Amino acid sequence: NEKQNLIIVSNRLPLSVKRVDGSFQSSLSSGGLVTSLAGLTKSTQFQWFGWPGLEVRDLGDREEVSQTLEAHNAIPIFLDSTLAHEHYNGFSNRILWPILHYQSGVTFDDTPWQAYKRVNELFADAIVDSAESGTLIWIHDYHLMLLPELLRHRLTQQGKSCAIGFSLHTPFPAGDFWRNLPVRKHLIEGLLSSDLIGFHTDEYKQNFIETCASLLNARTEIPNQIQYKNRLVCTNKFIVGIDPQKFTDTLQMPEVQDRIRTLKERYKGVKVIVGVDRLDHIKGLTQKLSGFDAFLDDHPELQNKVVLIQVAVPSREDVKEYQDLERDLCTMAGKINGKHGTPLLYMHRSVPFAELTALYSVADVCLLTSTRDGMNLVAFEYVACQKERHGVLVLSEFAGASSFMSQGSISFHPANKTEMSEAIFDAISLDPAQRKSKYEYLRDFVNENTRWDSICDGKLSATNTRSAKWGQDFTEKLSQRCKRPDKPC
Ligand code: UDP
Ligand code: G6P
Repeated sequence: NEKQNLIIVSNRLPLSVKRVDGSFQSSLSSGGLVTSLAGLTKSTQFQWFGWPGLEVRDLGDREEVSQTLEAHNAIPIFLDSTLAHEHYNGFSNRILWPILHYQSGVTFDDTPWQAYKRVNELFADAIVDSAESGTLIWIHDYHLMLLPELLRHRLTQQGKSCAIGFSLHTPFPAGDFWRNLPVRKHLIEGLLSSDLIGFHTDEYKQNFIETCASLLNARTEIPNQIQYKNRLVCTNKFIVGIDPQKFTDTLQMPEVQDRIRTLKERYKGVKVIVGVDRLDHIKGLTQKLSGFDAFLDDHPELQNKVVLIQVAVPSREDVKEYQDLERDLCTMAGKINGKHGTPLLYMHRSVPFAELTALYSVADVCLLTSTRDGMNLVAFEYVACQKERHGVLVLSEFAGASSFMSQGSISFHPANKTEMSEAIFDAISLDPAQRKSKYEYLRDFVNENTRWDSICDGKLSATNTRSAKWGQDFTEKLSQRCKRPDKPC
């Protein structure tokens, strides 16, 4: 049972580096990918390769950045700023991200595509020497879809045999939508050099399998298995998780308890609705504000009795579509507050973890309105902070999380203002018994998918690897693939 080396690769490292007054500072990166792997980092040894988030030219500076990241097992792959910009903003976020989330009106352009290919090659070059035969290589997300193929090629040239796994943290759209992308075949071919490909839901997995069959003529008659060019690729759904203990521990801290008391005092007699989203089109934030506006129109009797606290975490701010969205939201927020007597607290910034847990904890409702969303871990985090209040999750039917949580939440279509308004009203009107039963359903779901209990002497005992369940599941499957590459999935 020897331990296998693990290499994690993603575009975004768990820490992002910034230059502040001539020196380098790192801070925890935002987003669900990093959150979902946080549990694994406690229990498993690995190296994590990725882009540090800024251009560093000077060799001495590169050394300094590398040292800053070393304590977190993170290894930076340095890219020049034009190339990084074209890869990250140009192709990944302006072309690929919208297509993966069913957004129309995307214009393909060859320059960012060439940069995307180049960056995937540079990642392959940077990683190949660190891998030995038997190393498990786990690649994450849409920025690196060509990497499995490029890496496989280099490993083979060096006579190394490694298992390559890939996890997609976004939806994979239905085949007819994916076809809009002129490089539709290149990207899925890139992925098919993996041994194991993971998706958040069965729907995304099925869409991918069907696309491989129709675009590449891959054989897919055996469930979860894709046979392509003499390779056997396994696919599966892996339900990602959070570290619920981190939230319960933080809620116990005296300063967080103080903050909760202050917030409870401020919002006495007022129903608090919370929303926490990266400022991104897919989160349906304009829809959320319109729906909230409609709700206030529908219920004048609730004036001054409801507040929506919306955190919009800054994201991808160099991309025009994201800048335009920020402007639109600011205008809408101003109009709603002018019309209804300031029922909306709109914050365009990130919030410290302690403040986030306090907000989750005092909120009677969490409103998530994604038009499409790979999973949405904010839904999980809200539940982790609701042991006392049994607050209600109002969750768009288009969030991946909805396919697991709809029974314990209130679902609605994010573009249907009436449905959203009714869903909000239903959420604040539920009686305690209904709230408790919904909460318990969600709590069990979150716990089941975030806890990794090991069996010792026939007894179940929680280990410090709690919260790493999906990571453990994935790497175990990948390890099996490494040992028996021809074994059916
Ligand atoms: N989050 C953050 N900074 C904040 C507020 C929230 O990093 O100021 C975290 C949040 O706690 C959650 C993650 O960002 O873990 C968002 O993950 P989710 O899966 O909901 O969406 P994504 O951003 O990945 O699309
Ligand atoms: C989503 C993506 C991640 C990404 C995160 C934050 O969760 O699936 O790959 O890291 O958003 O976005 P950013 O562009 O800041 O990395």
